[in-house]
Amino acid sequence: MHNFVFHNPTKIIFGRNTIPAIGTETTAFGRRILLVSGTGSAEKNGILRQVRESMAAAGAQVFEHPGVRSNPVLSHVRAGIALAKKHDCEAVCAVGGGSVIDEAKAICAGAVVNHDVWKFFIGKKSITTPLPLTTILTLAASGSEMNSGMVITNEETRQKFGFGNKKLHPQVSILDPTTTCTVPLDYTAYGAVDAIAHVLEFYFTTKEPFTPVQDRLMEGLVINSMECCNRIMLAPEDYQARADLMWAATLALNGLTAAGLGKVGFPMHMIEHSLSAFYDVAHGAGLSVVIPAWMRWQLDLQPERLAQFAMRVFDCHDGNTAQRANEGIDRLEQWFTSVNSPTRLKQLNIPEKDFPEIACNALTLGKIWRIDGYDQDKIEAILRLANTAN
Ligand code: NZQ
Ligand code: ZN
Repeated sequence: MHNFVFHNPTKIIFGRNTIPAIGTETTAFGRRILLVSGTGSAEKNGILRQVRESMAAAGAQVFEHPGVRSNPVLSHVRAGIALAKKHDCEAVCAVGGGSVIDEAKAICAGAVVNHDVWKFFIGKKSITTPLPLTTILTLAASGSEMNSGMVITNEETRQKFGFGNKKLHPQVSILDPTTTCTVPLDYTAYGAVDAIAHVLEFYFTTKEPFTPVQDRLMEGLVINSMECCNRIMLAPEDYQARADLMWAATLALNGLTAAGLGKVGFPMHMIEHSLSAFYDVAHGAGLSVVIPAWMRWQLDLQPERLAQFAMRVFDCHDGNTAQRANEGIDRLEQWFTSVNSPTRLKQLNIPEKDFPEIACNALTLGKIWRIDGYDQDKIEAILRLANTAN
């Protein structure tokens, strides 16, 4: 185990009928609230009505900033910052999935400075004291509800960059699993894939030789995410499955899994973010294409780790280390296919001729994230693996 500090300041309120707490939880930070939401689902399923009622009962003055789209864009963040400044908002409340919460985090950070918010994402400025943020999570996937990260796409430069700072943690996040019962099955699956990817990024990039507690925690999150998703595919209203998937996705990227692993990286996300930036691919759909390819690219580099994953997650015990490692990757890829998440770039209509530009874009993010060991050729090789049947 490597030395570590684990400190997650986000208060989680979990369970049925917890949304009404949002008003008092948010007005604890101020009365003038910017309410950030997506492109319609929270209006349709009544969550926004509950939030407005709760805010009114708590005496809040609410200014609304709807319209956050999936893979949130810088222009919409800038508009939200202008609104927050215009009304001198004291706190922000996000109602939605990772896209809404990430945009809200960027607004919180940008509303208190005079420079452009994108400067945070390219390492030109550091975070000061963002506006306080509360959230109502409506989709189990990103973990943004309980972490310090945010991911925004700059449409002009076609860069989808992530940025993290501990001051970006939401103060309070309300996780009512019933809100996710309206998530379509495709985005439910993409969310499970994203949660699994968050675990695999750390599981396969740690250099620590002996991390049994973390390994089994991570393996358990992968197994649970798959099992819950399978149940939801059969019964979308299954509360327990929705609740377990929601909590697994939150735990998959709230710092707990990385404790003691030392330096870890996010290489699969480094590549996927370019797919989402260029082609507006759903994040989880891009990941289910990149993950098996990246794992196959790792076969010669860490066969034992891959074989351990295969044995513990898929119960693969036959053959030698390399065979078990391969079997584990095949089984994970088969699971992605079983929940209709794509596994080949051609399924996303991404042409091979674009691979050099995608690789170059991913490398730029890799440099900002200080992910070493990758170059243009290596990333193009991984992209080619994401197009060939194994
Ligand atoms: O806008 P609405 O109408 O709500 O539609 C959304 C959107 O179209 C819909 N949706 C959300 N909740 C729903 C619902 N539909 C019905 N019922 C509900 N309850 O689902 C679609 C996808 O929503 P989105 O927020 O984009 O999905 P997700 O939560 O997967 O977030 C994806 C974003 O998170 C970023 C990704 O890059 C991507 O931009 N990530 C953030 C991270 C972080 N902050 O730590 C880490 C992740 O790796 C990820 O990169
Ligand atoms: Zn992700």
